[in-house]
Amino acid sequence: MKNLDSIIQNARAAFAAVSDSNALEQVKAHYLGKSGQITALLKDLGKLAAEEKKIAGAAINQAKAAVEAALNARREDIRQAALAARLAEEALDVTLPGRGEEKGGLHPVTRTLERIENLFASIGFTVADGPEIETDFYNFTALNTPEDHPARSMHDTFYLLDVQGKVAENVLLRTHTSPIQARYMQAHVACYKHLETLPEIRIIAPGRVYRVDSDATHSPMFHQVEGLWVGEAVSFADLKGVIADFLKRFFETDDLQVRFRPSFFPFTEPSAEIDVAFMGGALKGRWLEIAGCGMVHPNVLNHAGIDPEKYTGFAFGFGPDRLTMLRYGVNDLRLFFEGDLRFLRQFA
Ligand code: DAH
Repeated sequence: MKNLDSIIQNARAAFAAVSDSNALEQVKAHYLGKSGQITALLKDLGKLAAEEKKIAGAAINQAKAAVEAALNARREDIRQAALAARLAEEALDVTLPGRGEEKGGLHPVTRTLERIENLFASIGFTVADGPEIETDFYNFTALNTPEDHPARSMHDTFYLLDVQGKVAENVLLRTHTSPIQARYMQAHVACYKHLETLPEIRIIAPGRVYRVDSDATHSPMFHQVEGLWVGEAVSFADLKGVIADFLKRFFETDDLQVRFRPSFFPFTEPSAEIDVAFMGGALKGRWLEIAGCGMVHPNVLNHAGIDPEKYTGFAFGFGPDRLTMLRYGVNDLRLFFEGDLRFLRQFA
């Protein structure tokens, strides 16, 4: 059928003449759309006699298939062309020289953590680690924190949601690094249970902790460094010596005073806050609270399977963010966590 051939040829030419897919779909409508030429021929079949209908129908369907094939081929061409254009536009010449090199630097708090680790390593402490997502057991119970302790409340602690979106009461973001004490002691006991005497534990455990709190001196995420020394006849005097020596080395001065002020923590007895005062400089003479500490509570040792009649120990928890602020003279804690390069570059 001559008419059909010319329809096919016209369609091919029309498809070839457009170069974006929207235009192509519009051209398609002239041939294959509801009132397109091929569609019209198919509609007219009804007017023919049965014999003719069969022959004409087959021919029209063949033509339709040819137009469709041409359409699909053109669609693919257009897609490929668009892809090629995009690749050309986004081409990356990896042989070009870089646009200036920037040297990174360690975050000031990271510097402090490394400094603390190194100072304690020099007196025989190993670095220990623990999960930031903790269980209620390690964060509170193993540390002798009673069921009704205010720290367990929703206001202070970030609890996790379970898959149904309900608060999972025993899974939380750790509120302090102290659960590392409990985990470490437990693992240590399991590891050395064949020995008559438990080898000494001396660990330092830095990490991120979380509390529902946010202002100039509190961030919902902050850092702590936990310390623990457990052995035979470890005393409060040892604690004082270790801390005083550490602080002098950390601040690189003998010109400071350290004060142990009676306090309360569920996991230590007796407990104290550690205050430091510098004898010179901008903060001269002001007592600044920098840590909590104490002798490990017998209940905490018992929870870990350590006999409190035979072993004693001390523990402490530093706020390294605070130490960093003091060391570098920074007055807003939030600056550490905002990621502002103008601030951070000063420490690189
Ligand atoms: N975990 C305490 C807090 O978050 C700090 C602390 C106090 C840690 C006394 C200790 C300790 O190990 O003995 O405030």
